[in-house]
Amino acid sequence: MAEMTRRDMLKGAAVAGAAAAVAGLAGCAAGAEKPATSSAAASADAAAEAMAEFKMVLGAEAGGSNFGIYRESADLHGDASETDDTLANLNSAMGGETGAHTKYAAFAEAAAAAGLDRIAALFEATSKAEDLHRHEEERVAQLLDPDAKLPEKPSVSPTETDGNLIAGARGEIYETAEMYPIYIATAIKERDAETDADKKDALDQAVQAFTRAKLAEAYHAKWYMDAYTTIDTPTDEKYWLCTTCGFIHKGAKPGACPICGLTEYEEF
Ligand SMILES: [Fe+2]
Ligand SMILES: [Fe+2]
Repeated sequence: MAEMTRRDMLKGAAVAGAAAAVAGLAGCAAGAEKPATSSAAASADAAAEAMAEFKMVLGAEAGGSNFGIYRESADLHGDASETDDTLANLNSAMGGETGAHTKYAAFAEAAAAAGLDRIAALFEATSKAEDLHRHEEERVAQLLDPDAKLPEKPSVSPTETDGNLIAGARGEIYETAEMYPIYIATAIKERDAETDADKKDALDQAVQAFTRAKLAEAYHAKWYMDAYTTIDTPTDEKYWLCTTCGFIHKGAKPGACPICGLTEYEEF
C-alpha cells in the first residue's frame, strides 16, 4: 500500500512537471503569434488546451498512468508497431534482454581492458540486471507456452567505451520509452479481456514483469549517460544492483528499492 502511494505521488509529480513544461512552450508559441495585448489570455487558453491534450496522451483522465505514454511515442516514431500478442512480446523481450545481457558483458571486458574500472563495474551490473529480466520473462512466457525458451546468445563486437555507453543508453531508452510501454499496454488489454483464470494471472504477471523492466531500464540509461559525461573525471563510487528487479543505484547502499520495494543488493 505504501508502495502504491509513493508510485502515485511520483506519477503525479511527473505529469504535473511535464504539463507545466508543455504549457510553458504553448504559451511562448501563442505569445509569438498574437498581438501583445491579448497574449496573456491566449497563453492561458493555449496552456489549458496543452494541459488537456497532455493529460489525454498520458491517459491521466483515466486515473493517471505512465503506461499511456506509448501513444505519444508511437506518434513520434511511426514504426513503433502495436501488437496484440503478449506471448510474442515476451519472446521478443527475451531476445532483447539476452542481447543486452551479452552485449554489456562484452562492453565490461572492453572497459576493463581500457583501465576504466568503474565503467566496467557498471556494465557488469547492467549485464546482470538484463539476465534477471530475461529469466523472469522466460518464467512468465512458460506460463503461457511451456515450450517457450530463451534464444541463443548473440556474438558481440564492442567498440570504444564511450561509444558503448552511448549504444547502451540508446538501447535502454528505446526499451523504457517505446518497447515496454507498448508491451505493457498490450498485456493489460489482453489480461482484462481474458476469461480463463490461469491465463489471466499469467498475463498479469507479464504486466508486472514488463513494468519492473521498463522502470529499471530508465535507471540503466541514467547511469550510462552519467558514466559518459564523467568518463574523464571518474570517482570510485560503487554501483548497487537490486537482485530482484534490476534497479541500479550509484553511491551509498540504498534502502528499499524504489521499483520493487525489496532490499537485497549486489555491490559492483
Ligand atoms: Fe537495462
Ligand atoms: Fe528492485
